[in-house]
Amino acid sequence: MVINFLGEGIVMRVAGFSEAGGPEVLRILEVPTPEAGVGEVRVRVKAAGVQPFDLAVREGWTPPYLASPPPFPRVPGNEFAGVIDQVGDGVSGFAVGDEVMGNSVLGSYSEFVVAPVANVVAKPEGMPWEVAGAFPAAVMTPHIALEDLRVGEGDALLVHAAAGGVGAVAVQMAKIAGATVIGTASEGNHEYLRSLGAVPVLYGDGLADRVRAVAPHGIDAALDGAGGHALEVSLELVKDRDRIVTLVEHGRAGELGIRVTSKEKRSIARVAEAARWYADGRLALNLKGVYPWTRAADAHRQVATGHGRGKVVLVMD
Ligand SMILES: NC(=O)c1ccc[n+]([C@@H]2O[C@H](COP(=O)([O-])OP(=O)(O)OC[C@H]3O[C@@H](n4cnc5c(N)ncnc54)[C@H](OP(=O)(O)O)[C@@H]3O)[C@@H](O)[C@H]2O)c1
Repeated sequence: MVINFLGEGIVMRVAGFSEAGGPEVLRILEVPTPEAGVGEVRVRVKAAGVQPFDLAVREGWTPPYLASPPPFPRVPGNEFAGVIDQVGDGVSGFAVGDEVMGNSVLGSYSEFVVAPVANVVAKPEGMPWEVAGAFPAAVMTPHIALEDLRVGEGDALLVHAAAGGVGAVAVQMAKIAGATVIGTASEGNHEYLRSLGAVPVLYGDGLADRVRAVAPHGIDAALDGAGGHALEVSLELVKDRDRIVTLVEHGRAGELGIRVTSKEKRSIARVAEAARWYADGRLALNLKGVYPWTRAADAHRQVATGHGRGKVVLVMD
């Protein structure tokens, strides 16, 4: 059933929620169709990636960079791919009909999303829509993190949760930068990590010793995509705390003197560079789940398992 929040007017469908809660609160709703303002484009969405972030939003969390909780109904989704169908004043370089992908602040699980033109980039020819929908956020975070970690030729980088949506991209980007990568995953994902160029190690008790065994010259930098024990191991193995980034333990970073990725460093140029690597065949994005957007609740359930290879994505009808 579609729930209409308007009397009349131009409406679009979204996969959103009117009260915070479990995956079951996600419903197909109708809301006003947004219009592209100055410097913005409107995109008819073909696919939208699902991140752990979206699950927290659905449970009622407000991202710290929003001044106040957004009104209901709320629509998750920070990344999208689709076709531009409206161009606002002052936009150059893009036109109606262009195939693009980009970042939004919430709202991507929608038929239409409006974004600043500075947040979109051309979709590489040949990149499937479902890959493009899950690409921008998957590449933005590791691109920033590896820059912050100053990962380069000859470095030994430890990536925790290396088979995950962010981790698998981080592994490939670090390989492009010339680093040796040790990646943590469950046994079933070790072959996958090898295929990405990483040395796999099993997470859990004894991790530090297993890492030492495969990296006898030490670990120069670590990207923590798991938190908890993974962070403790990073603190034990990496001498320079400025070369540890956590994506999970934001609350402890300050006191520990380690890094988090800052929102200010997000730039579509990072997605554009990753798109070139994709087009060159140097970077791939594995999808562990592709769902029709009407099944957003099931997509959230899969992400909530916390396991598997790569990203979950919604495909619009
Ligand atoms: N800017 C930011 O700060 C930012 C941006 C994006 C994501 N994040 C956060 O970064 C984390 C990773 O995001 P994601 O999208 O990559 O998540 P994801 O795809 O859901 O991560 C799943 C991966 O985690 C691995 N994993 C599960 N338990 C683990 C453990 N104890 N130790 C090591 N690996 C473990 C799984 O490996 P197996 O399947 O082999 O068990 C699986 O490959 C999330 O907490 C997310 O919220 C932060």
